[in-house]
Formats: sequence, C-alpha cells, structure tokens
Amino acid sequence: MNIVQTPEVIGAHVSEVDLARVSDADFARIEQTFNQRGVICIRDQRLSEAQLIAFARRFGGIEPHFLKHYTHPDHPEILYISNVKKDGKDIGHADAGSVWHTDMSYVERPPRATLLYALEVPMDSESGVALGNTQFASAAAAYDSLSPETKQRLAGLRAIHQVAGRRAKTGTGQQDQALRRDQPAVVHPVVRTHPFTKRKCLYVSKGECEGIEGMAKDEALALIDQLAERTVEERFRYTHRWRVGDLLMWDNCAVQHLASFDYQWPQHRRLMHRVTVGGSVPF
Ligand code: OGA
Ligand code: MN
Repeated sequence: MNIVQTPEVIGAHVSEVDLARVSDADFARIEQTFNQRGVICIRDQRLSEAQLIAFARRFGGIEPHFLKHYTHPDHPEILYISNVKKDGKDIGHADAGSVWHTDMSYVERPPRATLLYALEVPMDSESGVALGNTQFASAAAAYDSLSPETKQRLAGLRAIHQVAGRRAKTGTGQQDQALRRDQPAVVHPVVRTHPFTKRKCLYVSKGECEGIEGMAKDEALALIDQLAERTVEERFRYTHRWRVGDLLMWDNCAVQHLASFDYQWPQHRRLMHRVTVGGSVPF
C-alpha cells in the first residue's frame, strides 16, 4: 500500500490496496492518515455494497440516513448521491453540499466521517476532464491562523446549529427540509478539539449556525461569517477531482466541504454511494 500526501495542508492519496481485504496493519496506517490529513482518497476500488459498509464500520458505527427515499433498497446504510433521474424522479440526493458545510453539524453527535464511493463521474465530453469536483478546507489550519486575541475571544463560545437555519442549506430540497425540520437546534463549541489528534478546529458554518449563546444576534452572525470565511480561504483548501473507483472519505471535525455543480442531467451522470460513520459529542 502506498500513501502520498497532497501538497495542500489537507489530503492524501492511498493506492495499491484493496479495501475489501485490508490487513489490520494497513488499516491502522489508513486510519492514522485519515486523522492527520482530514480527507483521503483511496483509488481504484471495486467494492460491493457490503464491502463498502464493512470498511466504513471499521471506523465506527454506521449513522442511519433520514432521507429514506434515497437509500439503497437492499442496504439502508448506503445513501445515493446522484443526479440520475428515473421516470423523471431523482434516484438520489442530487445536490448534496452546494454551500460550505460539515455534515450534520445540527445533531448532538455529528458524524466522525463521511465516505463517498464513485461509481459514475460526469465528464466534459470535449476535454475529457472530470466534472463535479468536491472542495475541502482545513478547519484546523484555519484555527491555527487566528491571532492570539481572537483565539482568546473564541474560547468557551458555543454556536447554535439548526438544520433549516439561517440560510437553508441547498442540497436539501423542499421535501428533504421538511423531513429535517423536526430536528431541534443544538449547541456546539465554536472551537472543537479533534477527538484523535487534539488539534483545535473552527466549527461554524453560515448555513447552519444561527447564533452564539449569550451574544447579541448581530454580533454573533458577524463573527460566524468571519470565522466561516476564514475556514474556507484558498490557502486551506484541497480540491478533489474524481475518478470512477475513488473512495473518498472526510473528517467532519477537521474539514469542511463544498460540492460543485458544473454538470447537468441528462448529458452528465454522477452516481456515488455514501456511508456516514457516527461520531462523538464535540468538546
Ligand atoms: C455530501 C456532500 C459533496 C459532493 O455527500 O455530504 O457534501 O461532491 N457531497 O457530492
Ligand atoms: Mn456534505
């Protein structure tokens, strides 16, 4: 197995390994790389649904999906992320992540990891270049870049996360949002400690965070915007260009992510299997 770090502050590429049969020693290297690099791509996989789920389970319990109408009929652990339509209807979640976010920050125990396995990748027919890149940004590098005064100011602050919060996250159509609306708001520290590396990470996003406990609304929103923008600065980013067979996984404490929608049905087809691994209460 070969592991190469990307030149960016996050990201690593893993090759020459079959995730259906990873030894404990290789798994330990993958997990360590995952914790340290925030997002990793394991190339050239050919995984059945059961193999994908079994690999994800090595990182922790599988988080159930509430968009039940987009889950795999035989494997409810798998959510289809896809723009493919069948009989005029989306077969999967068609626009997951069109604003910068971290997955499910609006629950008490946000997921440790999200795995996305690429079965079909849209391609520009003229240039042969893949479309639908996913961008990532390091919440740890962003925190490190703050001044000592700002770090001091943020210590102990807690933000209010709400699914249909300030700017309803796109990637949730009307119907999807209605499903999530019952989700009560939760509070999480503005600065999270990574449960494995102990690095401090900024943990706010414009879509979900609608306030900060004990702070006037205007001041809170201005601070959230400032921190959210800091998190996703160009210098903290890695852009993933997809290939069929990529198993990409990201750490929802260490990085934020953003999908791009430069492809269109029916010229372009994108089909991914997503599995979400449960996490712990942020501290
Ligand atoms: C997600 C997500 C990004 C993409 O599945 O949570 O944000 O590029 N996906 O599909
Ligand atoms: Mn997402």
